[in-house]
Amino acid sequence: MFALTYLVFLAVANAANAATIPTPGRVRTSLNDNWKFSRFTNNPDSLSYNSLKPWLLPQANLFITGTKYPNPSASSPGANIPYVQSSFNDDTWQQVDLPHDWAITGPFGAPGISGGMGRLPTNGIGWYRKTLLATADDISGTKSIFLDVDGAMSYAAVWLNGNLVGGWPWGYASWRLDLTRYLREGNNTLAIRLENAVDNSRWYPGAGIYRNLWLVKVDRMHVAQWGTQVTTPDVSEKEATVKVVVQVENLGGAAREVDVSTRIYAVGDGSGAEAVATIKTVTTAVAAGEKRFVNDSVTVPNPRLWGPPPSQTPHLYLAVTTLSSGSAVIDTYTTRFGIRSITYSPSNGLLINSQRVYVQGTCNHHDQGALGAAYNHRATQRQLQILRDMGANALRTSHNPPAPDLLDLADEMGFLVLDEAFDCWSAGKTANDYHLLYPEWHEADLRAFIRRDRNHPSVIAWSIGNEVQNQESALVAREAIELQSIVHSEDPSRQVTSAMNAATPDHALPATLDIIGLNYQGEYGNYAAFHQKFPDKMIWGSETASCISSRGTYFFPVHSGNNNRYSAVGSSDAAARYISAYELADPGWGDSPDAVFVAQERFQPWVAGEFVWTGFDYLGEPTPWGGQGGSRSSYFGIVDLAGFPKDRFWLYQARWRPEKAMVHLLPHWTWPERVGDVTPVHVFSGAEEVEVWVNGVSQGRRKKSGKGVYRFRWDEVKYQAGEVVAVGYKDGKEWGRDVKKTAGKAAALAVSVDRAVIDGDGRDLAYVRVEVVDDKGTMVPRTNNTVEFSVAGPGKLVATDNGDPTDMTAFPSASRRAFSGLALGIVKAEKGAKGKITVTVRGDGLIREGEVVVTAQ
Ligand SMILES: *[C@@H]1O[C@H](CO)[C@@H](O)[C@H](O)[C@H]1NC(C)=O
Ligand SMILES: *[C@@H]1O[C@H](CO)[C@@H](O)[C@H](O)[C@H]1NC(C)=O
Ligand SMILES: *[C@@H]1O[C@H](CO)[C@@H](O)[C@H](O)[C@H]1NC(C)=O
Repeated sequence: MFALTYLVFLAVANAANAATIPTPGRVRTSLNDNWKFSRFTNNPDSLSYNSLKPWLLPQANLFITGTKYPNPSASSPGANIPYVQSSFNDDTWQQVDLPHDWAITGPFGAPGISGGMGRLPTNGIGWYRKTLLATADDISGTKSIFLDVDGAMSYAAVWLNGNLVGGWPWGYASWRLDLTRYLREGNNTLAIRLENAVDNSRWYPGAGIYRNLWLVKVDRMHVAQWGTQVTTPDVSEKEATVKVVVQVENLGGAAREVDVSTRIYAVGDGSGAEAVATIKTVTTAVAAGEKRFVNDSVTVPNPRLWGPPPSQTPHLYLAVTTLSSGSAVIDTYTTRFGIRSITYSPSNGLLINSQRVYVQGTCNHHDQGALGAAYNHRATQRQLQILRDMGANALRTSHNPPAPDLLDLADEMGFLVLDEAFDCWSAGKTANDYHLLYPEWHEADLRAFIRRDRNHPSVIAWSIGNEVQNQESALVAREAIELQSIVHSEDPSRQVTSAMNAATPDHALPATLDIIGLNYQGEYGNYAAFHQKFPDKMIWGSETASCISSRGTYFFPVHSGNNNRYSAVGSSDAAARYISAYELADPGWGDSPDAVFVAQERFQPWVAGEFVWTGFDYLGEPTPWGGQGGSRSSYFGIVDLAGFPKDRFWLYQARWRPEKAMVHLLPHWTWPERVGDVTPVHVFSGAEEVEVWVNGVSQGRRKKSGKGVYRFRWDEVKYQAGEVVAVGYKDGKEWGRDVKKTAGKAAALAVSVDRAVIDGDGRDLAYVRVEVVDDKGTMVPRTNNTVEFSVAGPGKLVATDNGDPTDMTAFPSASRRAFSGLALGIVKAEKGAKGKITVTVRGDGLIREGEVVVTAQ
């Protein structure tokens, strides 16, 4: 019987989706569909976090080691509020599916919301309601019924049938509530209240139940929440030790004995149903209301190791833990993990499985551009694929715990993750940010975060903070010591860092940390000072560059050096709020990629690498135009908010994918007003030499000018209409070429889609790219024609964008101005749909329409 079960799940496991593996004894279902929602800008219920807090705090008790928070004796608040009652008529409320971000539909210009937060209406109180059906079995007294929340922004409080069950204030936390006590047979009313203050973030936080919600039904004797810890303390090609800690929880009324066993399977192995290792069965007795650890280890021979491509492969394993009694399976719990070792070398950087891996990382915020903070698997996968195509092998989850699913994707794709907890500790950065919660919640939030994420092989280090306030202070050093020791106690297998932009080697903070993570200051020369002071700590650039630009906009004269302020002549157009895509501008701190590369080379091999600020543009923080009348989204991204690469993408690709024959030339070549004017031609390439021709006339062949230099420049070229060609050479042979041609008038729309077939699950997405082209098919680079999307068939337009940080048209709009020749439409199928979805895009004026067909199945 086991063999049969595992054959089924191995087939599923090949698709590497742990969520769909059969787990006898345990039912975990999505609670995402069919909610009712209403947002209030004035408090409709007179509740507040302070009035609810005594009932929420005990939720933290599972994650704190000191004095527990008492359960209040007073009756819980909110029972009289209409929204928590079954009788309340919510017909007029909005029907929504989760994940849901109530602010992303706009409009921009929300009162009280700063440019830093993206000018979208995140503030206010949101109520969500849903009917939950419970069977007689669910309430028979043998089951525990849990609500698992991957993330709700923020200050969540949950009522079931009018009873306050609990909640969790921090919007980036994942948490569990036990609904069992208040559940009854038939229909139950679940109501969730969220509240977001203004000034609660430095960037766009999103608003609402913006991550997945799950209902878990298990026996009262079960594997506890995040109740396994799998580590691989000894790893070689020949064999690996896999250590498995299982925490068994008995929420029943009497002590019970249970048999605990764990089998290890290779994911996607294809060799059949055989476990590669089995941990011997242990019988353990667990008292009523108690938890017990069952710890053991096993040797896996010839392990297939987890490691980052291209030099390694991210092989995965599955630990299947079974609780049973006689022949009856009580609970099945799966833990996906990887077998790999990490070495943090002060002299040689990061080693995975004893092989040096240079960290080529980007920092990323959690929003998905036009989709906002609402978690979407495909949107996240697309981002990671774009980063991978660029050659990135690492991510920093700046500055908060990511959606759990992002780490699943990172495990599968072999990304190295610097998993970050906090943007502030006891001293805040905005009036209503996490510093308000820090005193009472930081231990619980941090322990919960580590327990949730510690089995992911992709996580290679923890960050306890980002650029916290007062890095010079003794208080901050004490806080760092406490936080780091919390992490060590939950996970002794990984090192801890905190991203420091202001600490110097003589401050107490860096001395407390395992890894020296420097934001920007490494490039100014401080890598050496820290290395000298801390010769036994690994160092990396936890945040680098902060280059700013807007895709496809170029200004003149071009700076002759390799880095310049955005405000310098030729770097930007302040009136239009665009920054030159020659990619040389910094915001007042930071550097161009070129300057970072040179610094990284200078400190090899001991600087482990860098995490660039940022992989993608994100909502909010539109530096330098965050004030009144400013922009909506950032300029930092290597890729714009719509997912279109800026020129910088190829600069990173040149360095990060040295094996790829690639030549990228800029700017575009349509400058009717610049005939005869100096219009520098730059080429990004990993080639040894590059030659450029304008209308067939060579502008010279240039050699790579030094270590870490991937920019070739012809700064004296005078513009004339026609064509510019760049050819790269390696070992004397051609190694890639690029051509830019002068475009004529906009005449047509070239429409394409990233995937022709999508799931008809109402969640999967097709990204439709629209290029404004002339009658020969050349992209017209400076058009801003408005295009109009329409969808026929069983699909729906979700949002549109163009990557322009100044565009204040709300994201759901079907009409969108093109920016630097491009626009994007995001389309999904109707839930349960099959068939052809036709997306038609029409332009204004005399432009021919374009069309693309996506099949839902
Ligand atoms: C339970 O709720 C569902 C959906 O809201 C409704 O169709 C059904 O009639 C309800 N059942 C009872 C017994 O109230
Ligand atoms: C089992 O592992 C847990 C978690 O690491 C630890 O707290 C406990 O002391 C261990 N128990 C034994 C008997 O080793
Ligand atoms: C579109 O481009 C034209 C020509 O460059 C410019 O005058 C106009 O202001 C632009 N419109 C918008 C909405 O940006």
